[in-house]
Amino acid sequence: MHCIAKTFGVGAPVATTVLLVGMQVHAEPNRTTMPDIGKLVHYTTVERGEVTEHIMTTREAIEAVRRGEPIPAGTHVVLVDYRDEKVFRYFVMEKGKDWGLDYDEARRTGDWQFQWYKPDGSINMEENTARCQRCHTSRSDREFLYTFNDMRSFELD
Ligand code: HEC
Repeated sequence: MHCIAKTFGVGAPVATTVLLVGMQVHAEPNRTTMPDIGKLVHYTTVERGEVTEHIMTTREAIEAVRRGEPIPAGTHVVLVDYRDEKVFRYFVMEKGKDWGLDYDEARRTGDWQFQWYKPDGSINMEENTARCQRCHTSRSDREFLYTFNDMRSFELD
């Protein structure tokens, strides 16, 4: 499965209480939007046990990465998480001009923002998207993407 639960799912209640002081607990609607999935190019699939992740983005983003250029503002990258052949959730990253300025430097992931959508398109308000950013920040040299290399080697028609 996507590794959030593994990494953050287990926490002693005491530790959790301490952690939540001074931290944003619930998700905020941010600038990220749900794209029209049908218009995106499915460039790689990651299998994790019972979970199948279809990862997709725009043609323009793939072309930019293949040319060694920055991914343009306005790009969505979506991870569609399927379980039992049904959509379980959508993980969405979207890049916008200067969107990084919404966050302080410690949290910022370039100009990318993150969101977790339920299958009905509503936001999962239980998630704090700072967690997404904390993990993806380790890929700062690759557009904050784990599947950057798959995107770069994807052959467009
Ligand atoms: C514990 C680390 C971790 C956290 C937390 C995390 N991700 Fe990821 N994310 C990954 C990994 C690793 C992949 C590559 C696919 C895989 O291995 O399942 C990935 C892939 C993605 C992708 C596909 C593009 C890419 O980077 O390859 C999107 C979109 C994404 N995550 C969004 C999110 C969102 C939204 C959240 C928060 C709700 C989130 N992620 C939280 C580790 C994380």
